[in-house]
Amino acid sequence: MEETAKKRMLSGIQPSGDLHLGNYLGAIKNWADRVNDYECYYFMADLHTITVRQEPAELRRRSLNQLAQYIACGLDPEKNVLFLQSQVPAHTQLAWVLNCYTMFGELSRMTQFKDKSAKYSNNINAGLFTYPVLMAADILLYQPDYVPVGEDQKQHVELCRDIAQRFNSIYGDVFTVPEPLIAKTGARIYGLTTPEGKMSKSVPDGCVFLMDSPDDIRRKFKRAVTDSDTENCVRYDKAAKPGVANLMNIYATITGKSIPEIEAEFAGQGYGVFKPAVGEAVVEALCPIREEAEHLMADKAYLDGVYRAGAEKAAYVANKTLRKVYKKVGFYQGL
Ligand code: TRP
Repeated sequence: MEETAKKRMLSGIQPSGDLHLGNYLGAIKNWADRVNDYECYYFMADLHTITVRQEPAELRRRSLNQLAQYIACGLDPEKNVLFLQSQVPAHTQLAWVLNCYTMFGELSRMTQFKDKSAKYSNNINAGLFTYPVLMAADILLYQPDYVPVGEDQKQHVELCRDIAQRFNSIYGDVFTVPEPLIAKTGARIYGLTTPEGKMSKSVPDGCVFLMDSPDDIRRKFKRAVTDSDTENCVRYDKAAKPGVANLMNIYATITGKSIPEIEAEFAGQGYGVFKPAVGEAVVEALCPIREEAEHLMADKAYLDGVYRAGAEKAAYVANKTLRKVYKKVGFYQGL
């Protein structure tokens, strides 16, 4: 962390569900190595999560379990700043100020707001509307150069840039204007039973969770959809055989083998051999992660300590920005 020459990166993750193979192979697996090139901040965005009703005990449980799972996936709390959003008050403090520099019209145009207000039409609360302002505060407090997000969050990062530029144009260079970083590297993993769509917890049968038991994983792979023809041949053809292509991609990402190597490995053998082999590779890859996460989840004192230390480091950086903003807008801060 002392090498200040490194560019800074920050991202938030909602503690809203259990992590699955698609999250892991598509993104998290590559995060551990980022610390070689960047100074990395990650936080669990629990404040954002309550824009949709949550069961309080469940949210508390997930906030801890998800931290354990990320650490088990290789995010080292000694090298990354890992923290819980609600434990750093500067986020909500800056969000209020930025609310006054964000236009009603801008927020009305956010596609996620439109989607979510359609989906949760009985609870279109003000938090859902100002969600991107809190997100802008999350980001700008830390002056990051890059914000890695999924495609669905790109519009929010762009709004954050507009807010930062607006503020800077009035008060001078207060905020670093960050670049969104839309991940293209990670593998795209589709559902095992619905290979047309991304792997998702809303289709649990085709979704392999990091905490699934080896038997559950084996069962899910045995039931994976292959193709509707009777070819029964392990050949990569994404259009004609999306299920097989997905299984091949999973196998390739885990073993490091190329697609032609995999075709050769299973030449003359049908899906009856191939599917369990992919399942076994996944069991082997996930076993150490699950065991480490279970070990960490049982040690609440350790996880509390990680969050406490993370919040302290985060608050130090965040409060510096917040004091500057308070001064610029004219809040009296004493002699
Ligand atoms: N809105 C993001 C999501 O749902 C989570 C998030 C909150 C975030 N604050 C952030 C991501 C700041 C990047 C930066 O995925």
